[in-house]
Amino acid sequence: MKIGILTSGGDCPGLNAVIRGAVLTGDRLYEDEFVGFRDGWRGVFDGDVKNLPRRAVRGIGRMGGTILGTSRANPFHDGQDGAALVAQRLEEMEIDAIIAIGGDGTLYTANRLVEAGVPVVGVPKTVDNDLDATDYTFGFDTAVQIATESLDRLRMTGDSHHRCMIAEVMGRSVGWIALHSGMASGAHVICLPEFPLSLEEIADHVRSARDRGRAPLVVVAEGFVPRGVDEHFADYELDEFGRPRLGGIAQTLAPILEEMAGIETRATVLGHIQRGGEPTGFDRVLATRLGSAVVHLLHRDGLGRMVALRGTDIVDVPLSDAIGRTKRVPQHRWDEVRVLFG
Ligand code: F6P
Repeated sequence: MKIGILTSGGDCPGLNAVIRGAVLTGDRLYEDEFVGFRDGWRGVFDGDVKNLPRRAVRGIGRMGGTILGTSRANPFHDGQDGAALVAQRLEEMEIDAIIAIGGDGTLYTANRLVEAGVPVVGVPKTVDNDLDATDYTFGFDTAVQIATESLDRLRMTGDSHHRCMIAEVMGRSVGWIALHSGMASGAHVICLPEFPLSLEEIADHVRSARDRGRAPLVVVAEGFVPRGVDEHFADYELDEFGRPRLGGIAQTLAPILEEMAGIETRATVLGHIQRGGEPTGFDRVLATRLGSAVVHLLHRDGLGRMVALRGTDIVDVPLSDAIGRTKRVPQHRWDEVRVLFG
């Protein structure tokens, strides 16, 4: 088989390990030939590919980023129907199938292409860990590790100055990174989009930590909006794809909490640092297994499906199961953590 691989959407530590897992498995077991599309679907439209022989993936499993580049281009942007163009490009390049590695938007695109008769299989990717059809996504563990290390550092300087430190982590509509890194670092309050605390509740936890002689540490997911605030409290500009460009809630909160809780407060936005760098061992293993499994899936005629993690097993599910269903932090995880606040 001749297989084209693409990485699409925001990058995520572990993408290269997926590519390596797929190429090594296909080369060793099926004599597959691989090419990589540059910059996601953009590379498909433009026929912009690079050959991926076995030697091209040597050593890349431990590297962050993606050797193929990525973009948010998609064949259905702005109401256009790019399925025919994608099919034509595959025919011209004699490519039998596409492995699309991406998040909700990419998997949605992959599913629409499959419905139009284009051969695609999927590998789920999101640093936010918010895809419902898989237990964990690769990249999340790395982001939690980076965030936890950063929070430990912020605690240290906060302790020296007796300040309140607010750290903003990624998480557009879910607070998985905030929950895990906040728990790991012993934060005094964690603000999740799923369970919005009011400003007064946050200030209470900050005061309580300060009154015990601690330097309060607040972790906030970028998509958090406090309960009961004005609708324009967190207005963001839109990116070229109409998504709010998040970032800045920590800076918005800092002067408000400083005033309410009466403690000098500083804000830090961790931002893309969480997505860069080398994947953790957990993410390398998960990503490599997904890369191998998606090649087996293709050879089992699994078009229209994607690989996923269930417990410790790699399984496959229909692409349609993965899209439009956000995995939120459930109530019991919130109940478990909030007793630790203050
Ligand atoms: O969706 C993953 C994510 O990392 C979000 O947590 C974040 O809001 C967004 O991507 C950032 O997107 P960009 O890289 O386009 O700024």
